[in-house]
Amino acid sequence: MSTAKLILDDGQEYELPVVVGSEGEKAIDITKLRAETGYVSLDSGYGNTASCQSSITFIDGENGILRHRGYSIEDLAKSSRFLEVCYLLIYGRLPNTAELVEFEYNLSCHSLIHEDMKKFFEGYHPDAHPMAILSAMTVSLSSYYPEVEKDSDLNIIQLLAKMKTIAAFSYRKSKGLPYVYPSEGLRYTEDFLHMMFYVPTECFDLPDVFEHALNLLLILHADHEQNCSTSTVRMVGSSRANLFASVATGICALWGPLHGGANQQVIEMLERIRDDDCNFKKYIDKAKDKNDPFRVMGFGHRVYKNFDPRAKILKGMTDKVLDQLGIDDPLLEIAKNLEEIALNDEYFVKRKLYPNVDFYSGIIYRAIGIPTNMFPVMFTLGRLPGWIAQWKELVNDPAGRLNRPRQIYTGENERAYSPIAER
Ligand code: SDX
Repeated sequence: MSTAKLILDDGQEYELPVVVGSEGEKAIDITKLRAETGYVSLDSGYGNTASCQSSITFIDGENGILRHRGYSIEDLAKSSRFLEVCYLLIYGRLPNTAELVEFEYNLSCHSLIHEDMKKFFEGYHPDAHPMAILSAMTVSLSSYYPEVEKDSDLNIIQLLAKMKTIAAFSYRKSKGLPYVYPSEGLRYTEDFLHMMFYVPTECFDLPDVFEHALNLLLILHADHEQNCSTSTVRMVGSSRANLFASVATGICALWGPLHGGANQQVIEMLERIRDDDCNFKKYIDKAKDKNDPFRVMGFGHRVYKNFDPRAKILKGMTDKVLDQLGIDDPLLEIAKNLEEIALNDEYFVKRKLYPNVDFYSGIIYRAIGIPTNMFPVMFTLGRLPGWIAQWKELVNDPAGRLNRPRQIYTGENERAYSPIAER
């Protein structure tokens, strides 16, 4: 076992174990740091801290590599289907045909939600953000579907099956449309699009490219190691809260504009630039101005310091989808111009800021007809198998402990209490 030597300010020396991952990543194991030295480590934003050891997803941010259980995102995007990737993430290997058929059948058997849960939707304002509904409905599943033993996958199947129904129902409610129930015999993505867009009075015949594009979008969002929302799911799961409660908190974390909520912000940013005479220079200058809160949404990443492989795939797919649909979306040209300008601007180049997964995804969702405020919901549908796989890995880890970080206190030192009359 290799070690790292720590020499403290009092001259004391400590040997700390070095952990090496299967891709050669190295970590100094500080599990015993406080017990042995009295010191803790400080790493705000956890940019230098591994919260766990995991065998699910590998990212090499310097080289734009993303793999799930060893399979590259490029291969999965080109040849796989979303449910195959769900199976891969959750069970650790690609399914054979019989396993995939059974998995898909089990999901279709559990895609209904309890009829009483429809009453929840009635209580929401029509303009309620669907992420608020999704997180509340997800935790509420635990009051209808009891927690099962760890070795049973029933809750996993229930959650994976019902999330798309809840998402589609929240859309239908916001439009004042009748709910469309899940249909047995439709593939996962087909069934979701049917529940979203079927109108009884019209012939339902969506272009094939819709299902292909949605399948790819969900694959590209399926997991991404210890990002903010996945770390939240692990944090809550470490208290041994049930799967529904743990994932509901991940939805809340994903909603943030710095994370999964960015895909909605990107479209709103592109529309703002469009409505401001496409004044790119103004917005690039705003993004560089430390006193201006404006940021180029969909740009930058904590891990990718070269390019986000998902953004590369999405950029290529955006052109294809819009061409096949004969859509000329001005926002796509604005996005491409913005990317071109930013990638040649020293501010962005120096900070290694490139388009991330959120930069182009919204343009494809728009082309499919999904409303902007539903974009984080689509991210949720994609990320769900990743959250489930990470939660399952955590709860099945015999060495798994309650997550409880320490802190460095910077407040007042001890002082005497003074009665209010004396203040
Ligand atoms: C996702 O972690 C994951 O894996 C997430 C994700 C996943 O699949 O789960 O990939 C999904 O969340 C992608 C990110 C979506 N968010 C956005 O697109 C929001 C816009 N991006 C930024 O807010 C930012 O880039 C973050 C939040 C993504 C990353 O922020 P960091 O790592 O904390 O970096 P930072 O804020 O410290 O930025 C470093 C510098 C700063 O400038 P200086 O202080 O050094 O002068 O870069 C600047 C920042 O001001 N900067 C930007 C910028 N992003 C960073 N400047 C302008 N526009 C931006 N978008």
